[in-house]
Amino acid sequence: MDRPEAQGPPIPGRIVLSSTQIERRVHELAQEIGTAYSPDTELLVLGLLKGSFIFLADLVRQIPLPTQVDFMVASSYGNATTSSGDVQLLYKPGMSIKGRDILLVEDIVDSGNTLAQLLPLLEEQGVASIETCVLLHKRIANLGEYEPKWTGFDSPPGFLAGYGLDYAEKYRALPHIVDLGRPEDLENKNDQ
Ligand code: IMP
Ligand code: MG
Repeated sequence: MDRPEAQGPPIPGRIVLSSTQIERRVHELAQEIGTAYSPDTELLVLGLLKGSFIFLADLVRQIPLPTQVDFMVASSYGNATTSSGDVQLLYKPGMSIKGRDILLVEDIVDSGNTLAQLLPLLEEQGVASIETCVLLHKRIANLGEYEPKWTGFDSPPGFLAGYGLDYAEKYRALPHIVDLGRPEDLENKNDQ
């Protein structure tokens, strides 16, 4: 059931995607993913923590294939709102990815650094296949061969939060996605 946006704590920013819009799109993505693989494929869904945790949980329950789930932690942001460029893998998947069909699930593509640095690292471990599904894409980055196969929504240029995405660890639990405004303005607010 849709949680009325008016309930709960005050909403920061402006709602750009409602929980209903997200739910519909997640369902479509899951169906598209399901038809892209043979029905006996056991897909290893790898979530990039923390931002993808809600998206992954909703997506994986609707993909009409047998799946396994694992997570990774990559960090380039800290508490800032712009990428520092250097992506570190702080936690690797616990299970071997060799010979597996991998679906990497990410919350949002901004500069593209995370995917551009992470995908080659995963590929070189001898995966059978690797594709990416992102909820949001700011369309700033041109990822070439690392462009996600599935994208939920093209994102507005502001800093977004909710549905797993945070601003300084806040707002992850919002059922919708809000635009908090220009990253530069947010950082200025933080400094005060
Ligand atoms: P990229 O490496 O610059 O593409 O950034 C990817 C990561 O930065 C994502 O996994 C997000 O966690 C974070 N990020 C980028 N833009 C936003 C945003 O608007 N809101 C929240 N997190 C973001
Ligand atoms: Mg993140």
